[in-house]
Amino acid sequence: MNKKVRTKTVREWKNSDHKISCLTAYDYTFARILDTAGVDIILVGDSASNVIAGFETTLPFTMENMIYHTAAVSRALSRALLVADLPFGSYQVSDEQAISNAIRLMKSGNAEAVKLEGGEHISELVQNLTGKGIPVMGHLGLTPQSVHQFGGYHTQGTSDKTATRLLNDAKILEEAGAFSLVLEKIPADLARQVTESVDIPTIGIGAGNQCDGQVLVLYDMLGMYDDIRPKFVRRYAELGDSINSAVKEYIQDIQNGSFPSEKESF
Ligand code: KIV
Repeated sequence: MNKKVRTKTVREWKNSDHKISCLTAYDYTFARILDTAGVDIILVGDSASNVIAGFETTLPFTMENMIYHTAAVSRALSRALLVADLPFGSYQVSDEQAISNAIRLMKSGNAEAVKLEGGEHISELVQNLTGKGIPVMGHLGLTPQSVHQFGGYHTQGTSDKTATRLLNDAKILEEAGAFSLVLEKIPADLARQVTESVDIPTIGIGAGNQCDGQVLVLYDMLGMYDDIRPKFVRRYAELGDSINSAVKEYIQDIQNGSFPSEKESF
């Protein structure tokens, strides 16, 4: 349980009973709690753009933002594998640009692997990255950086044509050297087919329970907000409510003069 998780470990879990657990984290304090609790993979997702920075999409997040959050998370980890997203615009221009940004995420952010979105069209890049010793986690299905191309956050792979394309993309990414694949918001049966057809682990989010592992956005599963409740999220806590109550109590204690008490004073 305490052995450091490597990309090699993740690959080996494909042919075992171990179901991979992955959560996002964006800061030192949460990352330390997640690592101590035993989560296998911590993903510094560009979902930070939504839940940390308050943007509507992941598109505005920059390399500088990602490096800052990845480095903060890295200082907390002793066991979990640290994967960081290459943000929108950091790998689309050219392979040179992508390789140089992936190296920045590893050198300055201490990422142990990078995640990028897309299928066949990024397969050469994935081959280039892995050929240079940069481990790659693929991401297929609903890839949020393509929200404007999709026209929203709809379930992907629902027609025969798109399902076949996704199955093909998964095989191509595996051949290109990806060590694992995130499958986001696709039908459970398609995720099962992908999982059975590749020799690298699939990590699902809104992709049913037949994947080799699961990932959730930390703030979703901790119940940090009222207004966003995706169907695929199980809320393991209601921290938004707890924090709200704690802050209200604090304000009340200041107003009624009970905080700080003598014991809390010098
Ligand atoms: O950015 C992110 O948090 C992600 C996960 C939802 C897989 O890509």
